[in-house]
Amino acid sequence: MSDARPGTFYGIGVGPGDPELMTLKAHRLISASRIVAYPAPDSGESFARAIAADAIRPDAVEIPMIVPMRVERFPAQDVYAGAAETIAGHLAAGEDVAVLCEGDPFFYGSFMYLFARLSERFACEVVPGVSSLAACSAALTRPLTARNDVLTVIPGPLPDDDLRARINGAEAVAIMKVGRHLPRLRALLDAMDLTAQAGYVERASLREQVVLPLADAPDAAPYFSMILIYKGNDPWLTP
Ligand SMILES: C[S@@+](CC[C@H](N)C(=O)[O-])C[C@H]1O[C@@H](n2cnc3c(N)ncnc32)[C@H](O)[C@@H]1O
Repeated sequence: MSDARPGTFYGIGVGPGDPELMTLKAHRLISASRIVAYPAPDSGESFARAIAADAIRPDAVEIPMIVPMRVERFPAQDVYAGAAETIAGHLAAGEDVAVLCEGDPFFYGSFMYLFARLSERFACEVVPGVSSLAACSAALTRPLTARNDVLTVIPGPLPDDDLRARINGAEAVAIMKVGRHLPRLRALLDAMDLTAQAGYVERASLREQVVLPLADAPDAAPYFSMILIYKGNDPWLTP
């Protein structure tokens, strides 16, 4: 057992992809961290790590949390339980630990599974990040919502009946986690006569970004994709 004062547990939003969309605070804290943890897919590189790569110290101890990026198998609680214990060991030894989170940590972020396990035992600070919601509406160059419009954010894997009811009750809609659900979501929005008001964005803010009217979207969507719909009557849509 160490006599050191415990370190601080940082949940750091690194933004939606473009490293220039990382906050100054995120950059400063990551650059100062000797212990850096991040979610990583079962194959390929960690998106959060790639975004923050330039800020990570060469001598940093890295803790990849290998979790599949497929919506159906998320969250992988055993992985977070194991990572939480590793991180707790560093914190107890007096080291600060930076956990990198794509977008914003508390907006559908897996960071919350670590937060739930560690925030009562250690000092914790959450650094907000630019979320994919903001990045996708910027990529579409279309306001997300206006005045008293209701914005509804819906995970695409929800059943059609839920999606239909929630879309019916909103003026502006963001459908997250589109991925393999794209064909079903397109059919649903077509049947609701909303395709003309819907935009499709994948990998917002990255060089590989794709922005299309939903009608022109590809047949297959990656995990990092979103559909934005505007059903309201704000005059910004009618120049
Ligand atoms: C688990 S959520 C994480 C959201 C993240 N914490 C945030 O603040 O944006 C993952 C979903 O966010 C959306 N997403 C994240 N980054 C994106 C990007 N660069 N472009 C498009 N969609 C993105 C996709 O819908 C994806 O399925």
